[in-house]
Amino acid sequence: MMIKVAPSLLAADFAELAKEIRTVEDGGADWLHVDVMDGHFVPNITMGPFVVDAIKSHTRLPLDVHLMIEEPDRYIPEFVAAGADVVSVHVEACPHLHRTLQLIKSLGVKASVALNPHTPISMIQHVINDLDMVLLMTVNPGFGGQKFIHHVVPKIRELRTLLDENHLTHVDIEVDGGINVETADLVKEAGASVLVAGSAIFKAEDRAQMIRQIRGSDG
Ligand code: DX5
Ligand code: ZN
Repeated sequence: MMIKVAPSLLAADFAELAKEIRTVEDGGADWLHVDVMDGHFVPNITMGPFVVDAIKSHTRLPLDVHLMIEEPDRYIPEFVAAGADVVSVHVEACPHLHRTLQLIKSLGVKASVALNPHTPISMIQHVINDLDMVLLMTVNPGFGGQKFIHHVVPKIRELRTLLDENHLTHVDIEVDGGINVETADLVKEAGASVLVAGSAIFKAEDRAQMIRQIRGSDG
């Protein structure tokens, strides 16, 4: 499977967002990861549809919008109108997950479900045919710069096996949190295909080289 790298803008300088986007786009990023936090589902507040709209006008890369919010159904149409290409909702915030996924798909974008580190794969077993991607959190959502939780690695493997058994090889597995050159190898080996990285990329001296190293085309 082709590996995609999605820099998380959470680690960028928000006052210089257009410039920051340019550096990772020129540096070979595949997607831009946009972290939306509401101060309820997670203890932090970031950005809403206005900012997504502004980001969209500065990039040709697909926007991978990670909704860490309660009642996502209320806001999904606005985020799609603002330019989201992939929308991830948290299973922990979706009592009517199947309905939420149909809503995302009805708007013509890719539907994804995110799982917190402790949430078992069995939570999404009955919706796997309705998904384009699964986002496995490798930190507790809310903040950038946290340490990778190694217990999630067997979960990546378990999900890849479940997808293979159901002939769903086109479904991406995205990992998010604490991804750097070392942990990238572990998650790719376990079956992840989209790697989100915030601090590793934005704090790197050479962002293009870091993106290549995380993707693995740089040895
Ligand atoms: C955490 C966010 C992540 C975060 C990753 O809640 O979902 O996307 O930006 O940051 P790093 O790569 O620094 O762990
Ligand atoms: Zn994220």
